[in-house]
Amino acid sequence: MKINKNKLSIASVFCLSIIIVIGMMNGCKVPESISSKSGAQLWGENCNRCHNAPDPKTYSDDHWDAATEHMRQKAILTDMEITKIRIFLKSAN
Ligand code: HEC
Repeated sequence: MKINKNKLSIASVFCLSIIIVIGMMNGCKVPESISSKSGAQLWGENCNRCHNAPDPKTYSDDHWDAATEHMRQKAILTDMEITKIRIFLKSAN
């Protein structure tokens, strides 16, 4: 039986690109240890590193938007971490 070489190489390129895409998706996955933490946990662990962790009741939702953006830069947190903290602060004020 004659094997069509062209078809074979197209198939292998296709397989290879699927493997690469899956590999990239895995690389972008947030590690379990971070993604499983709640906003309250992240707040407790991060927001008292430089000062006492502020009570959620200290500010209104609008003020928390500004303050958490400011502190995201200071604390060097990821978007996901600060978003969880923000949601926690707004839900508890
Ligand atoms: C790397 C140190 C550091 C970390 C971590 C940190 N802060 Fe701050 N924070 C500061 C400093 C310094 C100030 C006062 C000076 C300023 O405002 O830049 C401050 C001030 C504040 C203020 C006063 C209002 C304001 O916006 O300035 C709030 C509210 C606040 N932090 C909340 C938080 C929260 C919430 C977190 C956790 C996400 C956090 N901080 C984590 C250093 C930090």
